[in-house]
Amino acid sequence: EGIHIEHHEKIPSTQTRAQRLAQGGARGWTVVTADEQTGGRGRRGRPWSTKKGTALAASIILRLDKLPQEAAAITPTAAVIINDVLQRYGVDTRIKWPNDILAEGRKVCGILTEMHAEMDELHYLIIGIGVNVNETDFPEEIKPTAVSLRHLTGQEWDRSALLAALLDELKKRLPEFEENGFTPFREDWLRYSTVINKEITIHQRHQSWKGRAVDIREDGRLIVETETGQKEVISGDISI
Ligand code: BTN
Repeated sequence: EGIHIEHHEKIPSTQTRAQRLAQGGARGWTVVTADEQTGGRGRRGRPWSTKKGTALAASIILRLDKLPQEAAAITPTAAVIINDVLQRYGVDTRIKWPNDILAEGRKVCGILTEMHAEMDELHYLIIGIGVNVNETDFPEEIKPTAVSLRHLTGQEWDRSALLAALLDELKKRLPEFEENGFTPFREDWLRYSTVINKEITIHQRHQSWKGRAVDIREDGRLIVETETGQKEVISGDISI
């Protein structure tokens, strides 16, 4: 099964486009890319900015033979694989649960995984990847928290070579996830994580609470120790 790329110079969101293609029956490994997104989406309904020609924006349609609850661990799995590729650029990237990739404490890559399932059947998964590659500047709101490969390495990089490397590595290693789930990736995840063994604050919709992140479960839930015992976290944001 080959990779099919649909490239756009400018589009509202590669993620939304990929959703539409998947609903229309597009096969697995159909990939939507764009030089510029005018309505890029981040986690929890937040906007994601992709300025003309400096960032990498890609959404990959996957059709996996998995139950929806098993498929949820695709997020930490993809983070490990993407982190490995980014480290080839000589940058010390780290994974911040659930799906940010940071360097020098700032975000260099965001991952958005979306799944469509009905009953117990997984129809498709979409992995959206946004990497800050050649930005020299960021919009005011994200300036303190964003960083690009160019900032980190002092040089410009070829975005299509990065895309090719990411797709190649995902294609090589995701069959391992289909076979054995998150297990073969978990050790690497723990090694790359910025949160394990740290005191963290978890921000959820209606509350914030503190604890010590101690582990990640096979299904991608974070395990946090609190004064009142262990908790498992499915979603939320973390500050350290
Ligand atoms: C996040 O950090 O909140 C996730 C950001 C994901 C951004 C990527 S860019 C390609 C794809 N298209 C989108 O609209 N979003 C994802």
